[in-house]
Amino acid sequence: AFNLRNRHFLKELDFTPQEFRFLVDLAAQLKAAKYAGTEQPRLRGKNIALIFEKTSTRTRCAFEVAAHDQGAATTYLDPAGSQIGHKESIRDSARVLGRMFDGIEYRGHGQEIVEELAAHAGVPVWNGLTDEWHPTQMLADVLTVREHCAKPLGDVALAYLGDARNNMGNSLLVTGALLGMDVRIVAPRELWPADDVQKAAQDLAATTGARITVTESVEEGVAGADFLYTDVWVSMGEPKEVWAERIALLKPYQVSMDTVRLTGNPAVKFLHCLPAYHDLGTEIGRQMHEETGMTELECTDELFESAHSVVFDQAENRLHTIKAVLVATLGD
Ligand code: CP
Ligand code: NVA
Repeated sequence: AFNLRNRHFLKELDFTPQEFRFLVDLAAQLKAAKYAGTEQPRLRGKNIALIFEKTSTRTRCAFEVAAHDQGAATTYLDPAGSQIGHKESIRDSARVLGRMFDGIEYRGHGQEIVEELAAHAGVPVWNGLTDEWHPTQMLADVLTVREHCAKPLGDVALAYLGDARNNMGNSLLVTGALLGMDVRIVAPRELWPADDVQKAAQDLAATTGARITVTESVEEGVAGADFLYTDVWVSMGEPKEVWAERIALLKPYQVSMDTVRLTGNPAVKFLHCLPAYHDLGTEIGRQMHEETGMTELECTDELFESAHSVVFDQAENRLHTIKAVLVATLGD
């Protein structure tokens, strides 16, 4: 087994393939134990701070439920209700929270903020999403891939379509490279991952045997895929002004039943980190419809609701995988 005690969880590049797989294996064990009613609390008496500078449903709830299942207590800090980063520096906040808590989750903007927090907290810090990376999401995605595809990870082809210059594009590319997968980034050139991210993925692939494709061509990118993956076209923290441009660039990359057919794989599965804009049932959906005339953006409702879609298994797996991170880094 691997000892990850007291380690931070900041980005995928900080981990070896073996360590990353270990966390996914641990998550599968914790999931089975929860289902069987045999889960052992390994975080009794621990206190966990949850800092959210951006909104969240899954990540916050996964951290809270995981902590409670394991016997730990949580404190939620939102930007309006704390001094962090506004009235008090990240460095000072880190040193204060590190005196009170056994571990700290941070969701926010720049990766450098969560790195700064980790440098000064003296306790494990976990990245709950930054502009650049979404590493806890990757653990859930890999667990879901394992559950829904019998092939070894090294044989799995995953195509990500959409905004690939965001946290999800970066994280999926690097995680696929780390785990030796056949990972395809399918996006207009303007929205490809930055050169340094592509380089990091290529360097990893050279050691893991991963196959990396970065292409503008949907046909090429999705051929033979086992998984189609997409994310919102505009991320949290981005201005409203980018919507028109994003829609113009990304319309050809919408994931639909046509994309399913293009894979040539009738068993292809659909993944989405969520939240998704696929109907008018939300405030943002209605606003989007008024502004753009579109009722579906990154994926069609038909695909989202189809038997290809495993997005709610994926959402549930946020719980089990975040629990694995807590147990591995804080557990006795
Ligand atoms: N996928 C994800 O991180 O969801 P939340 O923004 O709801 O946490
Ligand atoms: N790219 C999205 C992911 C949400 C989980 C965002 O950052 O808003």
